Amino acid sequence: MTVRALVFDAYGTLYDVQSVRSLAVQYCGEKGELITQLWRLKQLEYTWLCALMRTEADFWDVTRASLEFALEAAGIAAEPAPFESLMAKYLDLDLYPEARAALDALAGRKLAILSNGSQEMLDALVGASGVASVFADVISVERAKTFKPDPRCYALVEPALGIAKEEVLFVSSNGFDVAGAKQFGFKVAWIERGGPLGPPSSVGPAEIYRLLRGRAEKLGRVADFRIHALTDLPEVVENSR
Ligand code: LAC
Repeated sequence: MTVRALVFDAYGTLYDVQSVRSLAVQYCGEKGELITQLWRLKQLEYTWLCALMRTEADFWDVTRASLEFALEAAGIAAEPAPFESLMAKYLDLDLYPEARAALDALAGRKLAILSNGSQEMLDALVGASGVASVFADVISVERAKTFKPDPRCYALVEPALGIAKEEVLFVSSNGFDVAGAKQFGFKVAWIERGGPLGPPSSVGPAEIYRLLRGRAEKLGRVADFRIHALTDLPEVVENSR
């Protein structure tokens, strides 16, 4: 298989959704960790609900509604200023430490993002992290009016990049996204952001998140490659010629 384009998931793959934690702790004290995890879990759940209900929704609104849900569930009053700072962090999430080096090492290849984020959110995020110039396109699922893993989202890649799905290596840390992309027909690399699989190390909110979202799904759609850092990708691409 020749890889003619690498297409990255954004949240959780290139950008660390856990980087909201320090702001969440400032705002919510000892419940900051709980809010960090509930927020992301509920955000993804809302994308699936909206897709199943066939309700057109903006990822910014989904992100806001899930933060409201998490705060209310944890019994924390939603005060406007800290609430808006948490939301703003979604436009400026930290890149994973090795992401920039990995993108540099892949420069010269066609690279793109395919994400649930709205176009406005993604453009802000990519701009704030200074990596906009490496991408041939930053594709928001908003063009398909639904969310991943609806196949219409993955189908946006071919018209955007002019590359057939068999020649796309899709990279994601999200198990549901790996399953969806594989079902669609991409070659898929799963990046294990949850760390080595093993028995649970604790029973706190971060561990629940890691166990639910850091593992591969049992849906019979297995990634072609399993990597531990984005910097493993050049070797994967070289070896798949
Ligand atoms: C995204 C979600 C899946 O970036 O994290 O699409």
